[in-house]
Amino acid sequence: MADKNYQKENEIPREKEANREPMTDRQGHPVTDNQNLRTIGDRGPATMENYHFLEKMSHFDREEVPERVVHARGTGAFGYFETYGRVGEEPVEKYTRAKVFSGEGKRTPLMVRYSTVAGAKDSPETERDPRGFAVKMYTEDGNWDLVGNNLKIFFIRDAMKFPDMIHAFKVDPASNVPDPTKMFDFVSRSPEAIHMITFLFSPWGIPATYRHMQGSGVNTYKWVNDEGEAVLVKYHWEPKQGIRNLTQEEANDIQSQTVAHATEDLYLAIERGEYPEWELFVQIMEDGYHEELDFDPLDDTKLWPEDKFPWLPVGKMVLNENPTDFHAQIEQAAFGTGVLVDGMDFSDDKMLIGRTFSYSDTQRYRVGANYLQVPVNAPKTRVRTNQHRGQLDHRDPGEMGDDPSINYEPSMRGGLEEAEERGKPHRPTYNAEALRKPIDRPNNYGQAGETYRNFEDWERDELIKNLSDVLAQSDERIQEAMVHHFTQADEDYGRRVKEGIEAKVKEMENMKESGPPGREAGEKSKYGSAGTATEQQAAKDAVDKGHEADPY
Ligand code: HEM
Repeated sequence: MADKNYQKENEIPREKEANREPMTDRQGHPVTDNQNLRTIGDRGPATMENYHFLEKMSHFDREEVPERVVHARGTGAFGYFETYGRVGEEPVEKYTRAKVFSGEGKRTPLMVRYSTVAGAKDSPETERDPRGFAVKMYTEDGNWDLVGNNLKIFFIRDAMKFPDMIHAFKVDPASNVPDPTKMFDFVSRSPEAIHMITFLFSPWGIPATYRHMQGSGVNTYKWVNDEGEAVLVKYHWEPKQGIRNLTQEEANDIQSQTVAHATEDLYLAIERGEYPEWELFVQIMEDGYHEELDFDPLDDTKLWPEDKFPWLPVGKMVLNENPTDFHAQIEQAAFGTGVLVDGMDFSDDKMLIGRTFSYSDTQRYRVGANYLQVPVNAPKTRVRTNQHRGQLDHRDPGEMGDDPSINYEPSMRGGLEEAEERGKPHRPTYNAEALRKPIDRPNNYGQAGETYRNFEDWERDELIKNLSDVLAQSDERIQEAMVHHFTQADEDYGRRVKEGIEAKVKEMENMKESGPPGREAGEKSKYGSAGTATEQQAAKDAVDKGHEADPY
């Protein structure tokens, strides 16, 4: 124990508050000195048996779990889902036996995590990037995760391409510098991404806040009724607060003030009691090839046209509680597309199947084998499982049934038994070759063109400007390929991006000629890139504008 007399002189007097509790270490021992190492004399050296210090420091050294490989920057909140008991005008049971949707007015607790995709854990929330919209419902049938995004479509339609896509979208692996031209290198060879790029480079690519954005399951799922009959469904969340998007310039202004505006906005709104709400809609389609459509219904780069597949309301979500421990409740939250309940099933969407492996796999690595015992991930229903042990197993012993010796199944002696089927199983049948082949209706440009034409003028102007600014800094081969893709989507689209690139290139050349020495931005690094011309100019400005100082 430290000699308190040494400290007294410099101590700032503290109010003794009624509810302050004495501190302990993690063994429950009182901590009587949290300021001073145990040393030989007051100037050291320190001794090795400093139990409290060693525990404190070694726990600190392990405070972070690895950040998510994608969607690392995010925040979340808690609330509930309230079902309407109907899907549009029909009883919901006609399509699904999932209890979360039955019984008008029934509430199911939930948590939501919103995120950006490519940036690191503390990256700016003003990034042009899709926003994650992941919902975990603690239903009476066990957990249901709907892991979606704000935009309703995606860049690619085959899970095989996802790791390459993310490598292209993240920072340059040699320099660790962001480089959007890498993204266009990948996209120019992946034309299925043109529809998503059209949304992403418009103001829809920077939602103003998490409260003011839509959500979508993006991939196609199935609903299954008591008879085992299934339909395809797509989910959509509509914010009751309205939708708001930012231009690049507005986002830049916000980013110069804070990198956490969306987290702050959500947290403060809930603190104020302005609970954000979203209405949940589904679109329903019979499962099948659907020859009459010019796209494949399971292709996640496509919207299902609303006039053919109306949006049917099924319930609403209210967020009314902030986290009290970000790490425990948000950072450790672990979602997965495989986490469905009875009455739901997977469609054959190739992305969905690939995602379903990836999520639980990454969480076993990121949070640990027993990530489902962390309270935010554990279902509110009782768990009875023989999946035991592993690091940090702190199961309730009651999970093992009446006889804890029977940790296997089947058994004649006791232990857990298989549950009864609740309704008829859904059993799709297949008769086709096993092969590797793209789908036969890619239609990479049709909806991209429609989306372009549906934008308001200012959104189209912003789209052209944002694309031109980035593409002007790309390799000419990439520029040509991208203009070709945009032209296929809509002639006006292609022409305007081409003109935009030419104008921007000219502007950059003029800057080089008339600017101060050193304005030859866009230099190539030995490998890959060290940022776009604009970014390199910002780095040079930092040196030029820096105020000289003498060493001390
Ligand atoms: C094959 C394609 C995809 C793969 C392999 C994949 C994989 C991953 C992985 C590994 C994570 C990190 C999870 C964690 O550490 O907890 C993640 C997060 C996420 N992904 Fe995907 N993803 C794919 C496509 C998509 C699509 C299409 C969407 C949108 C519908 C999406 C939405 C999300 C969201 C919202 C998160 C963050 C979840 C959270 O807040 O913790 N992903 N994804």
